[in-house]
Amino acid sequence: MVSWSQEAKVPFPENYESLIKVEEGEIGKGNPLMGIIPGLHRTYLNNIAYEHFKKYIADYKAGKTPPPFPEGSYIVLVNYEDKEGKKPRLFIVMHKKKEYGQTGGWGWEAFKPNGERIVKNPDKDCANCHYKGAKDWDGAFFSHYKPE
Ligand code: HEC
Repeated sequence: MVSWSQEAKVPFPENYESLIKVEEGEIGKGNPLMGIIPGLHRTYLNNIAYEHFKKYIADYKAGKTPPPFPEGSYIVLVNYEDKEGKKPRLFIVMHKKKEYGQTGGWGWEAFKPNGERIVKNPDKDCANCHYKGAKDWDGAFFSHYKPE
């Protein structure tokens, strides 16, 4: 068990719009995520994560289990208040870096648009669900990804 109060913290995704958008989806009534990220969301990857994603996403969607994401991978899910995707409501981040030393090698964090941190216990608040139930790829889902 790693405590969330450790020094190394996942940074706020200041430049998320310059990352690579890989999917967009909507969470509606009946979806278990309704209480966390209702409505529109988009998922962005940094270059390190995207190179790996590009190489293996077809395998993952075909039911295989590709190798885990490399050190330095950064995944940002932005949840919006509006249907147009102009008003961010929540930034949810997975960042793989040794110094975070958290579940699965990922640091897990969520921010309000003003930068306020939300996660108190990354195992309980995030990781438990990401490694349970639906088939994951190194803790990630990409449920709304559609090939071009
Ligand atoms: C109840 C289960 C659950 C909890 C709790 C949860 N997630 Fe997720 N998360 C999901 C699912 C399912 C998706 C795929 C969403 C979609 O596109 O439909 C997802 C998507 C994501 C993504 C985009 C990449 C991907 O896996 O598709 C990130 C990043 C993420 N979550 C991080 C977090 C963080 C950080 C927390 C804690 C604050 C958290 N999640 C809490 C289930 C959960």
